[in-house]
Amino acid sequence: MMALTDSFGRIHDNLRVSVTDRCNIRCFYCMPETDVRFVRRSEILDFEEIERFVRIAAGLGVTKVRITGGEPLVRRDLPVLVRRLAAVPGIADLALTTNGVLLAEMAAALYDAGLRRINVHLDTLDRARFREITRRDDLGRVLAGLEECRRLGYAKIKLNAVAVKDLVEPDIVPLARFGRENGFEVRYIEFMPLDAQGLWQRGKVLLADEILAMLASGIAPLEAVPDPDPRAPAAEYVFADGIGRVGFIASVSRPFCLNCNRLRLTADGKLRYCLFAIEEDDVKSLMRTGAPDAEIADSIRRNVAAKWEGHEINSSKFVAPPRPMYAIGG
Ligand code: 5AD
Ligand code: SF4
Repeated sequence: MMALTDSFGRIHDNLRVSVTDRCNIRCFYCMPETDVRFVRRSEILDFEEIERFVRIAAGLGVTKVRITGGEPLVRRDLPVLVRRLAAVPGIADLALTTNGVLLAEMAAALYDAGLRRINVHLDTLDRARFREITRRDDLGRVLAGLEECRRLGYAKIKLNAVAVKDLVEPDIVPLARFGRENGFEVRYIEFMPLDAQGLWQRGKVLLADEILAMLASGIAPLEAVPDPDPRAPAAEYVFADGIGRVGFIASVSRPFCLNCNRLRLTADGKLRYCLFAIEEDDVKSLMRTGAPDAEIADSIRRNVAAKWEGHEINSSKFVAPPRPMYAIGG
C-alpha cells in the first residue's frame, strides 16, 4: 500500500470527519449569534457515503478517525455511524469531539457502539462566562456529560479550551485544577482566525507561553513531556508535582504544520488538506455520480499531493478560509 505522502514528505494517516455543520450552542469564536446558514440536509453526506469514504481512506493508510462537527451529537443516530466506522478494517483509533451538551444522554450509547476516546469542549467553569461565550446556559449539562463519561470508563477524556485574551484568563487555572482533580487533560487551543464574524485579531490570542506562566504561578511548575509524539499537534506538559497534565494547541505561536498528518472531510462532502485550505475537492459529487472507489482514492491522493506547506496565520499573506469553523469541522 502506498501511504498518503505529500510533497513535503508528511504522511497522512489522520482523518477528521464532520458529520454536521449544525450546533446546539453558538460559541462566538466559531459561529455567528443569529442567522446561521446551515447546509441543506440533502447536501450532507449520509452514513453510507461517510463509511465508504472512510473505508477508501483506510485503504490508503488512514488509521485514525475523529468525528467532529458542528456538534456531532446533534446528528441523528450518531451511535449507528460510530459502530460502522469502528468496524472499518484499518481504523485503529476512533475519537469524537463534542461540546458535551448532549453527552449525559448519549455517552452510554456511544460507548456501546465502540467509542472510547472523547474530547469535550469546555472553556470555563463559570456559568456566566459560559453563557457569554456560548450564548447558551448549558454549563450544567456539559458537566453532567463529563461525569457520565467518567462513570462509563472512557479511556482518555480531554477538555478543549479556546484561549481568547481579555476573556478567559480567570478560567485558566480553575480549568487545570478541575482537570487534575478528575483525571481530564486540559488542552488550551490558541484562538484561530476561523470565527464566522471576523472577530479574530492577533492581539486577541492568549498565547501558550502566557498560559504556561499562569499555570506555573497558580498551581505548580510544568515540565515538557520528554518524548512527545512529534506528530501530535499538542505540546504536552506535566505538573512537576506529578498530578495531571495539560496540552497546548499553539497554532498561532508555535505552528505545527511541519508535522501535520491530517485530512478533513466536511459534512457536505468536501475534502480539505488543511483547516485553512482555500481549495477543496468535491468527493460527494464523485460519490453521487457513481464514481468507483479507485477514482475517489485518486481524488484523495491528489488532494494530499497538492497540500501546501502550512497556514500563513503569521504572515501578511494570510487569507482566512471561506468557511468558518463550524462549516469545516474542528
Ligand atoms: N479557534 C480555535 N479553536 C476553535 N474551536 C472552534 N473555533 C475555534 C477557533 N476560532 C475549537 C473548539 C472545538 C474544536 C473542534 O475547535 O474548542 O473543541
Ligand atoms: Fe495541518 Fe493546516 Fe493545521 Fe497546519 S494549519 S497543522 S497544515 S491542518
